[in-house]
Amino acid sequence: MGVREKVAARVVGRERELDLLLAAVAAGRDVLLEGPPGTSKSTILAAITAEWDVPLVFVEGNADLTPTRLVGHHSPARVLREDYSADTFVPGPLLDAMRSGGFLYVEEFNRAPEDTLNTLLTAMAERRIAVPRVGTVEAMPSFRVVATMNPYDTIGTTRLSTSVSDRLCRLAVGYQDAAAERAIVAVRTDLEQPQLIADAVALTRATREHEAIRQGSSVRGAIDLALVVDRLARLRGDTDPYADLVLDGMLLALSGRIHLDEVVEATPENVLRSIWESYFVLDPARAEPG
Ligand SMILES: Nc1ncnc2c1ncn2[C@@H]1O[C@H](COP(=O)(O)OP(=O)(O)OP(=O)(O)O)[C@@H](O)[C@H]1O
Ligand SMILES: [Mg+2]
Repeated sequence: MGVREKVAARVVGRERELDLLLAAVAAGRDVLLEGPPGTSKSTILAAITAEWDVPLVFVEGNADLTPTRLVGHHSPARVLREDYSADTFVPGPLLDAMRSGGFLYVEEFNRAPEDTLNTLLTAMAERRIAVPRVGTVEAMPSFRVVATMNPYDTIGTTRLSTSVSDRLCRLAVGYQDAAAERAIVAVRTDLEQPQLIADAVALTRATREHEAIRQGSSVRGAIDLALVVDRLARLRGDTDPYADLVLDGMLLALSGRIHLDEVVEATPENVLRSIWESYFVLDPARAEPG
């Protein structure tokens, strides 16, 4: 089996995205993955690095990710005792990834401060970095930078400057179709209840279509919804109708995951109830689990 087939075995669907990302990293490129939460970005990348057998080094892009945090720093206590040397240096994630030939995975790339992005750009362009009192650190050939960002994210983010975006390939990922999402929920929950899985996926997808919702839930919500309803059914025995269990499950699994439009007066609970009503009332047969 080639790398492509082995990677595909770990990921449901996403053939095109896998091909494109594999082509980009095989060509030695650094990549920006852009898509909403829960759209397989980490899953695809973890599958690729596992097959390449290189480390995947995570960093969260936020205001605290200073160049020092990214590159590393000299331990003040040790410097006091033994003066500066390469040994007193505590490497940060960028150096770890460069030295080990790993992929530096910068989540929420657009939240990192400008000077941190510039440090990254230098490492990407030159494949080496000069560290004070340590020397020049060369990147192993498999070192890559893979950045992610959520296009709907507006709080605390800066738009990428053109000098940054001009240096990256960009792969946009969206939500998968219903069949793929059902397959993901089946794999992640181990539930052998096709109707429950189908309902969890359909109701979760409906949160992405609803006019009052700015950003709906990803497949993570469907995974939790299916697991919670399964447990609830066991706790409550046969006393509650199936559709009622699903409503309670939706409030628990989805209410914190949907983000309403600012102008909307409704609550997440009301919006979820209306989604639930149109799903079960328009097709009463659904209220009888298969
Ligand atoms: N194509 C897929 N195949 C198998 N599992 C998947 C797939 N897509 C998503 N999942 C599952 O859904 C969940 C979310 O996926 P993942 O962590 O890859 O999303 P992400 O795009 O990295 O999200 P975020 O932007 O929030 O970090 C995980 O539990 C993952 O296992
Ligand atoms: Mg992720």
